[in-house]
Amino acid sequence: MVAHKLKISKKVWLTKNVFGMEFILPRIRPYPGQFFQVRVNEGFEPFLNRPVSIASYKSSRLLLAVKIVGRGTKMLSMKKPGEQLELLGPFGGKFKPARKRSLLIAGGIGMAPLRFLAEYLSARKTVFDLLYGVRASDEFVFRNKVGRMADRAIFVAERGYQKKETVVSRLRRMDLAGYAVAYACGPRTMLIELQKLNLPMPAYAFCEDFLGCGCGLCMGCAIMYKGSYRRICVDGPVLELGGIDFEV
Ligand SMILES: Cc1cc2nc3c(=O)[nH]c(=O)nc-3n(C[C@H](O)[C@H](O)[C@H](O)COP(=O)(O)OP(=O)(O)OC[C@H]3O[C@@H](n4cnc5c(N)ncnc54)[C@H](O)[C@@H]3O)c2cc1C
Ligand code: FES
Repeated sequence: MVAHKLKISKKVWLTKNVFGMEFILPRIRPYPGQFFQVRVNEGFEPFLNRPVSIASYKSSRLLLAVKIVGRGTKMLSMKKPGEQLELLGPFGGKFKPARKRSLLIAGGIGMAPLRFLAEYLSARKTVFDLLYGVRASDEFVFRNKVGRMADRAIFVAERGYQKKETVVSRLRRMDLAGYAVAYACGPRTMLIELQKLNLPMPAYAFCEDFLGCGCGLCMGCAIMYKGSYRRICVDGPVLELGGIDFEV
């Protein structure tokens, strides 16, 4: 397990409750979906580290984007540039995306790991489209950055746009014939709805459920997958959407 003590080199607010933190971390070779376990404090409060996906990694600059949902992320949001944080990792399997026309489906903060996937695909000249949905139209993150990398980008919102839409309702109306593969990250409810759609191409979910240790030891992240338990932190977090049993 590799622990990095890193200074926050930059901090930006991306929406009213999502912030980005940048660190300088040379010599890692991360794969899409990989994440760091962020130690929120020096002491044991909160006890568990918080998993955060790699949102971007370029020229040794590591970007994490965090949505405030509870105590740990609130405490992280109060850190300032120049302060030091301990990051363990990167964790997660070495998922190698196909170099085929892809569809990226993001919901809310699920855009964070998909931004890194978009960078990864772009660097390999793999064409992809983006479908990105949020609850309210002021909740988009990295909209322009990823929109520019995509061949075609579609943004939908449940509030704030003239037309109320979700990624699932939009997908129902889309012609999906040209895509060889899809990648999705977002709330569990979105992944469940996507699974029900039975997409015509292979689809992969970037799972962001609860973790414990983050490194394969505690079984706290076990998920039923293709008939047996798998650990999201080491066997995932990228798993075939169709193989996940969300009811167990
Ligand atoms: C592999 C992985 C990658 C992740 N990447 C990111 C990322 O890039 N950016 C980001 O903002 N978040 C990410 N998350 C989610 C993030 O880790 C949690 O939101 C965070 O740990 C919550 O900590 P907290 O102390 O603020 O919330 P808690 O006080 O622990 O919980 C507050 C509320 O949030 C809910 N909650 C907590 N954790 C999760 C979770 N994992 N999924 C859904 N609801 C949760 C709880 O049920 C509770 O209602 C990722 C999670 C995983 C497993
Ligand atoms: S979080 Fe401990 S095994 Fe996955």
